[in-house]
Amino acid sequence: MKLDADPAAVNPCRVFRVVRGIGAGEEALITARGPEVGMQKTTRRIEQTEQIDAVAKPIRKMVGRMVRPRPVRNLLSGVFLGHPLHPGLTDVTIGAWGMAAVLDAIGGRDAEPAADLLMKVGVAGAVPTALSGLNDWSDTHGPELRVGWIHALANSTALSLHVASLVMRARGDRRTGRILGGAGMGVLAVGAYLGGHLSFVRGVGVNRTAWQQGPAEWTAVLDDDLVEGEPVRVDADGTPILVYRYEGRAYALAAMCGHMGGPLDEGTFADGCVTCPWHASTFRLADGGVTRGPASAPQPCFETRVRDGRIEVRVPRAGGGERADLVRTRRGMVHSAT
Ligand code: FES
Repeated sequence: MKLDADPAAVNPCRVFRVVRGIGAGEEALITARGPEVGMQKTTRRIEQTEQIDAVAKPIRKMVGRMVRPRPVRNLLSGVFLGHPLHPGLTDVTIGAWGMAAVLDAIGGRDAEPAADLLMKVGVAGAVPTALSGLNDWSDTHGPELRVGWIHALANSTALSLHVASLVMRARGDRRTGRILGGAGMGVLAVGAYLGGHLSFVRGVGVNRTAWQQGPAEWTAVLDDDLVEGEPVRVDADGTPILVYRYEGRAYALAAMCGHMGGPLDEGTFADGCVTCPWHASTFRLADGGVTRGPASAPQPCFETRVRDGRIEVRVPRAGGGERADLVRTRRGMVHSAT
């Protein structure tokens, strides 16, 4: 499907545009738009400025290579936290610089040492913040890639202005230091707006399985002739589920990768894990735990059992009559022996 007209011009309330060419056989929904307010028009222009790709794509490729080692990927993706690392780190930098700006404005001479210290905390925090952000950005395409690039430019400019502010303070020119810090906060606000747009409008970093529930009761999804090592995608109460037999046991995970929605049933399987075909997130079949980012949240995992020659699945329960044949895994989630 291809829509040629400007979405806002055709119908400002409900227009979808689909573009091709994001990856092999992939399509991406640009957006559904309502009336645009505030900076939304500017943001939409950034999303549609394809010239940005000429600069952003080679850098994305380079960043992708740098974050490929598993320990680096896991650390920067926030696997140890269970959700993305970048948003938490932004709070450190924005908070420190914001407080420094307040002290600069109304703190007087007594607050100057505290303002300088906060400036330094913000600069130190900006480095891991930028690295985790680059890691997240390296998986984006199209509109998200472009907005992410401008977001990174704005934040790099803000960092430069704050470093320059620190230099001027160290030289005793506090007035220029305060001006540079204030300018840095202004640019940072633009970067923060674009970061919010990426998360809350474009859904970057959002767990794509967050609204999936799966069947609360045992639901038959497949005849029990599942071949070892051959993944099957089934639908259970509207939730796509990957069913896979490994070492004689049937496992069931949400089929849509929580990172960006990749089809896990088209992934690769090894050592009791499935690796997503899109960005190589790897999940344990037994409990959905992440063994390799960029996904950070565990993949929803379902109990399985065989009844009357059919494989059944359901959402794990904390109690009930089926507990006897459940196997508790090391991450505390459960699946049943078949
Ligand atoms: S969609 Fe990105 S790793 Fe699966």
